[in-house]
Amino acid sequence: MVKKILLLLISGIVLSGCSARKQTTHLDPIIEKKIDSLMELMTLEEKIGQLNQLSGMGELTGPSIATSDYAQLIRQGLLGSMLNVNGAKATRQLQEIAVNESRLKIPLLFGYDVIHGYKTIFPIPLGEAASFDLEAIEQAARIAATEATAAGQHWAFAPMVDIARDPRWGRVMEGAGEDPYYGSLVAKARVRGFQGKNLADKNTLAACAKHFVAYGAAMAGRDYNTVDISDRTLQEVYLPPFKAAVDEGVATFMVAFNELNGTPMSAHRGLNVDLLKNTWGFEGFMVSDWGSVGEMIPHGYCATPEEAALAGFKAGVDMDMESRLYVNHLKNLVEKGLVSEKEINDAVRRILRIKYRLGLFDDPFRYCDTAYEKEMLLNPRHLEFARISACKSMVLLKNQGILPLSREMRSLALIGPMADNQQDMLGTWQGQGEARHVVTLLNGIKEKLPNTRILYAKGCDFTGNDRSGFAEAINAARSADAIIVAAGESAMMSGEALCRTNLDLPGVQKDLIRELNKLGKPLVVVLFNGRPLTIEWLDQEVPAILEAWLPGTMGGSAVADILFGDYNPSGKLPMTFPRNVGQIPLFYYHKNTGRPTNDAVRYTSRYIDSPSTPLYPFGYGLSYTTFEISAPELSATSIGQNDSLVVSVKVKNTGTRKGSELVQMYVQDKFGSVTRPVRELKGFKRVELEPGQETVVKFTLRVSDLAFYTADMTFKAEPGDFVVYVGSDSNTQLQAGFSLKP
Ligand code: GLC
Repeated sequence: MVKKILLLLISGIVLSGCSARKQTTHLDPIIEKKIDSLMELMTLEEKIGQLNQLSGMGELTGPSIATSDYAQLIRQGLLGSMLNVNGAKATRQLQEIAVNESRLKIPLLFGYDVIHGYKTIFPIPLGEAASFDLEAIEQAARIAATEATAAGQHWAFAPMVDIARDPRWGRVMEGAGEDPYYGSLVAKARVRGFQGKNLADKNTLAACAKHFVAYGAAMAGRDYNTVDISDRTLQEVYLPPFKAAVDEGVATFMVAFNELNGTPMSAHRGLNVDLLKNTWGFEGFMVSDWGSVGEMIPHGYCATPEEAALAGFKAGVDMDMESRLYVNHLKNLVEKGLVSEKEINDAVRRILRIKYRLGLFDDPFRYCDTAYEKEMLLNPRHLEFARISACKSMVLLKNQGILPLSREMRSLALIGPMADNQQDMLGTWQGQGEARHVVTLLNGIKEKLPNTRILYAKGCDFTGNDRSGFAEAINAARSADAIIVAAGESAMMSGEALCRTNLDLPGVQKDLIRELNKLGKPLVVVLFNGRPLTIEWLDQEVPAILEAWLPGTMGGSAVADILFGDYNPSGKLPMTFPRNVGQIPLFYYHKNTGRPTNDAVRYTSRYIDSPSTPLYPFGYGLSYTTFEISAPELSATSIGQNDSLVVSVKVKNTGTRKGSELVQMYVQDKFGSVTRPVRELKGFKRVELEPGQETVVKFTLRVSDLAFYTADMTFKAEPGDFVVYVGSDSNTQLQAGFSLKP
């Protein structure tokens, strides 16, 4: 027994990395008392019913399911939560059964994938992340929560906080990109946006940090694939955004589909219980992913459904989404003595705690007000903000004097599969967003240039080899002053279970662009895509490229705002764009190696058939103006353990237009008890400057910002030499050195 306890202790220390402090959130004693009283009345079946979640038939976000008689299950107290039930009316109907026809009248908890908007759809999260505007990201989540709660939702299965460094993986569109520091800040902003100050408010949603953990490290970028990473990589890269979400008070967690180093996450007690609940002190509840408890059988981890139910429950998965194993097997497991009623009580308490915090016991119909729903959905203020959010998300990748286009243009050719497209602008996690509400790029331009002749031709589709539309497109382009090509991926080329091995523009879009480019007219390519693309040829051949991601309901207006200069692009890449798939994984905070990359020197870490550098680095993005950033000046060249360092840079707008620059600060720890990345993002600030205007940007660097998991996995800073880099992207060479004294 002693050995077992010791093992548990060691596993706890290793997994927790010793760095996380137990979070002392303050449980509400009144709520806890109410839970005590309610649970005293509940039968074991009713307790297990609270752990059961089924999907409504509105839309399926997982493998097809057997239909269920929800009403009967609710009446019997065997169903505690539902997902994919939408609208104040539909949720009210089911809630009425729960609170009027069941024995204990426990309200249902309704959850939904509110990933980047509910009815008003914002840019995909990777696009929102490109804004590097945490307030805007928070505000977008706030609006999404306002709309979703107006339509009966209590709980968003968001934010997805998986760090992603492999653009083959379709779900990179759903997160904040490759950087743990920035991903942690975005996680906090989205939790704040969804949950507001008080979950009991009418317009706040319980948030859900997902997918715990390291789902983004799926081997070969193939969804649901094996994850096999070191504990150090787990601690340094994949866990931080989840810890940030806990620190921000996130109400729930969702476990990931993947296995981690041989253990399916749905059975990973070490992380789900020892780290998340015991060390980090998370007091919300954890839901499985769709059927993930049952998937431990195909994982080859459990032989029977009962074993899977036992493994999932013992590993801290409190609620079972759609595998139906808890409701079918937990009672039996309790009767066999394999699960204690005390353990059941802990899971039930966690779920009831969120229902109480949401105010569902005070007013189960608080979120079922059809008049309020009508007023909130697609509210003009929401649409206006969605347009601003989309503008902020877009990244100017190249501009050889083409953009902004003149508004005086007599005629303009608009070509491509995204030119007059509503559906694909929404992305795959479109919530209740409807294509019919989307402003297409064609309409966005027409609205802005009412007197310009717009010659539209689709030219080709996203996929296939059909070039029959080329002639019409080239014809239209011949008689136009300039050409805009709206190209990219369809919505169904990124997202869950939508991974790609080839990251070029699909279909014959490349050929179409090349044919149009032969006309020698001003040509702009606007990319609509859910991931970094390998477009080195495009960068070499066309004069202007704007990354628009999948920009949501107001996307067409936002692209028009940028193309014609009403908004000066300010986005920065939250994820590296490789030149080719062969370079993947490619991210900026890589190690130096013993033979640092030098494409000119043979015996270094490089390729013989491709440059080793990315096409566009993390943090990259141009503006319609130019900026000059000075080398950083440091307040000291050596600091002690209790000191901080002030880093100052001068920034000047050296162009002819007002614009904003995201000044980024990276730090390199030159030598450590383990090898350290060549640099890591430690701060960023946005400055808006008039032409000729100059300002000083200051960052404060604390010793705690230099901490990392040392050789013995202690989280601390080590004395030694450091370099501070400051600039407009992660490639900056503007630097200054300092040392940290012992
Ligand atoms: C899906 C996704 C998850 C989503 C859930 C409910 O499979 O993995 O992110 O929240 O099922 O739709």
